[in-house]
Amino acid sequence: MSKTRQILVTSALPYANGSIHLGHMVEYIQTDVWARFQRLRGHQCIYVCADDAHGSAIMLRAEKQGITPEQLIAGVQAEHSADFADFGVAFDNFHSTHCDENRALSEAIYLKLRDAGHIATRSVTQYFDPDKGMFLADRFIKGTCPKCAAEDQYGDNCEKCGATYAPTELKNPKSAISGATPELRDSKHFFFKLPDFQAMLEGWTRSGTLQEAVANKIAEWLDAGLQEWDISRDAPYFGFEIPDEPGKYFYVWLDAPIGYMASFRNLCDRTPELDFDAFWNKDSEAELYHFIGKDIVNFHALFWPAMLEGAGYRKPTGIHVHGYLTVNGQKMSKSRGTFIRARTYLDHLNPEYLRYYYAAKLGRGVDDLDLNLDDFVQKVNSDLVGKVVNIASRCAGFVHKGNAGVLVGGDAAPALSEAFRQAAPAIADAYEARDFSRAMREIMALADRANAWIADKAPWALAKQEGKQDEVQAICAAGINLFRLLVIFLKPVLPKLAADAEAFLNVAPLAWDDHLTRLTDHTLNAFTPLLTRIEPAKVEAMVAASREDLAAASDAPAGNGELKKEPLAAEIAFDAFAAVDLRIALIEKCEFVEGADKLLRLTLDIGDAKRNVFSGIKSAYPDPSALEGRLTLYVANLAARKMKFGVSEGMVLAAGPGGEEIYLLSPDSGARPGQRVK
Ligand code: 2FM
Ligand code: ZN
Repeated sequence: MSKTRQILVTSALPYANGSIHLGHMVEYIQTDVWARFQRLRGHQCIYVCADDAHGSAIMLRAEKQGITPEQLIAGVQAEHSADFADFGVAFDNFHSTHCDENRALSEAIYLKLRDAGHIATRSVTQYFDPDKGMFLADRFIKGTCPKCAAEDQYGDNCEKCGATYAPTELKNPKSAISGATPELRDSKHFFFKLPDFQAMLEGWTRSGTLQEAVANKIAEWLDAGLQEWDISRDAPYFGFEIPDEPGKYFYVWLDAPIGYMASFRNLCDRTPELDFDAFWNKDSEAELYHFIGKDIVNFHALFWPAMLEGAGYRKPTGIHVHGYLTVNGQKMSKSRGTFIRARTYLDHLNPEYLRYYYAAKLGRGVDDLDLNLDDFVQKVNSDLVGKVVNIASRCAGFVHKGNAGVLVGGDAAPALSEAFRQAAPAIADAYEARDFSRAMREIMALADRANAWIADKAPWALAKQEGKQDEVQAICAAGINLFRLLVIFLKPVLPKLAADAEAFLNVAPLAWDDHLTRLTDHTLNAFTPLLTRIEPAKVEAMVAASREDLAAASDAPAGNGELKKEPLAAEIAFDAFAAVDLRIALIEKCEFVEGADKLLRLTLDIGDAKRNVFSGIKSAYPDPSALEGRLTLYVANLAARKMKFGVSEGMVLAAGPGGEEIYLLSPDSGARPGQRVK
């Protein structure tokens, strides 16, 4: 094996104001599998993480719950730690950004940047809530869209027409926190001069640190020219005060990535053999990888390396970016029960099922990963139970009954054993490249060959024949040895199954190179079922419980705002209602609108004519083609509206608060396009 590598890996720091869900788990499982693989190969691989504990959202949530932010983040940190531990995510340290180490590092990095001339200051005009006494981030301002006059829109974009604008352009702005009318006020802000690092970033982002798709995206930003980055927020804010600037705080995204260092520092301070500087000094030979989702690439591939460079530290070796999770082909949805919290999953199912399923679907790219619940049951049962564990359970009984649990000497399947050994480098390469799906395919192909070989030898038939006992023992010893190799290959993904298998095999913890050896004249321990089949009823129960979580959350006083109750609108006369020409429409075509975040373009058949309608329902229907062929309700006599993307002729009807919770209305079957709704 090549020389021992020193590797530090991180996963993105989860916000300390919500639960971990199965979307988060894609990243933690991906990182954990990779880190375990490196350790299995004999490398030093330290995996640190922390809660991302700062910001106004956390401050306001704590206030709503009548507790201090420190109390809130302590409770969440305990919950997150337990969730990760129970999923087998083996952090070396799970810390918090609200800690002494992070304060010291954030201050030191800021001062180095400031003293090197990389910090600018200037006045910024922003909305200020006079009741609350605080400046308002865009998402805490609501008002009437300046383009289409839709009410109750957020400060930076309209969910109805897709327009984006500055909060100051909103009509009738209100603070979403207090309801007060905000005032414009000036305040001094601090900026990190990112353009100082343009040349360095152009080189660094093209030097193999990023996946190609990510490097291309970053190149677009670099080509457009970098902007200075606003790194300060005014009090009140939950975070670290900026040195020498009372009342000014570091923006949460400034100290969040420094939290990676802080977590490692905290670990070093209680682990004498770990040297912080050896990992972070400019000339460090250690490798540093950040695993992140594609939504936070700018922070990790632009701001963060620039901060490190400016403050005299080393930069990451690589940023490993993954896609989002969909469930059953759609965005996770609370009402569909597919917004599944880590704990709800754990209450119903073995975490190793999910670790395996994610591994089987994770490639090295940034594509989204779909958790199809039927496929999940089928794949886990077929691969892990039907192929891998099956080998041990088929063979163990004969070894125990026929030979007191002792594996006999020679190898009855030398060619197959050799094929397993030959496959090991390719499997290792796939793990190294984070192409876990390829690794799982290769491993399952080996499991298929082992099962076919055993089926062909049929020890269960031989066992009934006189004088065949030696042959039965030789076949089963070979089977158990092949099983042992599969366990080694799968150990990064299935640590619990591997530990149970090691107990059954009566061996010390297996390392990667153990695939080069075999067990002979060796006594096994009793066999206990290593993994049972997933019962579909458990998956259904988990989905039902996830729907109940939603109900509980919306009842709770500090709930997260789902299922907001909408007050009834003022009464109207019957004539006003009758004036609305509601029709049945057939959605002939449904497609994305280039450049629009929220809109889909619908081509409607309304019986005697076709209509073009833009509808802000994209977040609920990420696959527009799914709507094609569906009937819906259409307001036919609404005045046409000219939008940025074209003219919208009328409107389709949908219910729900927004986001993924939008439900297009449909008539009973039998209705036909063009029929009037009465
Ligand atoms: O997007 C998020 O969930 C952030 N809390 C991630 C922070 S990662 C790092 F930079 F701290
Ligand atoms: Zn609008």
